[in-house]
Amino acid sequence: MKRLLSGIKPSGDLNIGGYGGALRQYVKLQHDYESFFFIPDYHAVTVYQDPKELHERTRDVAALYLAAGIDPGRSTIFLQSQVPAHTELGWLLETQAHFGELKRMTQFKEKSEGKDVVSSALFTYPVLMAADVLLYQATHVPVGDDQKQHLELTRDVAERFNKRFGLTFTLPEPIIQDIGSRIMGLDDPGKKMSKSNPNQNSCVLLMDSPDDIRRKFSKAVTDSEGQVRHDWEQKPAVSNLIEIYSVFADEEIAVIERRYEGQGYGVFKKELAEVVIQKLLPIQDKYRQLVDSSELDRILIDGAKRAADVASDTLLAAKKAMGFVTF
Ligand code: TYM
Repeated sequence: MKRLLSGIKPSGDLNIGGYGGALRQYVKLQHDYESFFFIPDYHAVTVYQDPKELHERTRDVAALYLAAGIDPGRSTIFLQSQVPAHTELGWLLETQAHFGELKRMTQFKEKSEGKDVVSSALFTYPVLMAADVLLYQATHVPVGDDQKQHLELTRDVAERFNKRFGLTFTLPEPIIQDIGSRIMGLDDPGKKMSKSNPNQNSCVLLMDSPDDIRRKFSKAVTDSEGQVRHDWEQKPAVSNLIEIYSVFADEEIAVIERRYEGQGYGVFKKELAEVVIQKLLPIQDKYRQLVDSSELDRILIDGAKRAADVASDTLLAAKKAMGFVTF
């Protein structure tokens, strides 16, 4: 049986990077896998979250999952903090993860760099992520490129555990698509698109208004060549914009290149904004209907029950394998 698990942290407003690298894949893949889509709220608090904002953003991400097209009848949608097995298995796996390998995680290095105070949870974050995946015996994990190293660690920890205590966990494969797995900032194609960038125009949010989207794309950096051509080496900024177009229009890069041949960046950027707006408007409408609804509560309560059923079996197997007394 092929099983999928993935999630998006509620630590900032969802941007089109998370949509391209993750959410869009979830919606497509849910038809081919038994799927678990969760909201890693415990991961969010590895850096300080304002309690009110955490609360709101958690509901936002859940509502956006549904609004984008995840079908709760088909897939299980739940909050990490509603299934205690995550932190329990996280602790057990911390006994198998090595200090040295956690120190090598590039995301930890990036997030801790230059900070006076760094929580120990930020350091052990990838082990909790391993627990998320392994609890569900996920065979596949759709993610953006930046999560690849965390999934390698997940596999290493699972392999180590299986060798030491007997076969307990399935080794997961990442699903990282060619186009959309690395959406870069509109102001700098060398940096991942992220809400934490202080330049407001660098990042397009899923809930941005049409005018904001138009403004942000009109200010996006390009190059001096003037050709809409995909070439990451020579033309990273334009290539990034073409990939965003491809993700949102669901069109091949070559089709887009042909359409804008001989036209300047001005027309291309204008139409790119419209393509993104057309895709986001219905998602935003559905989000508004769902975010404060009791239907959302019901889906999350039901999802947590279904998730806990699966997770508790794996947790029990892991505890037994390690020699804990279980009843
Ligand atoms: P997070 O919340 O930072 O991002 C959620 C997903 O979106 C992808 N992503 C991007 N893809 C392309 N371009 C971008 N600019 C971009 N920004 C974000 C991420 O790669 C990710 O797939 N550790 C995870 C959350 C997590 C998780 C898990 C994921 C916790 N447990 C278990 C999968 C399985 C994270 O911080 O993603």
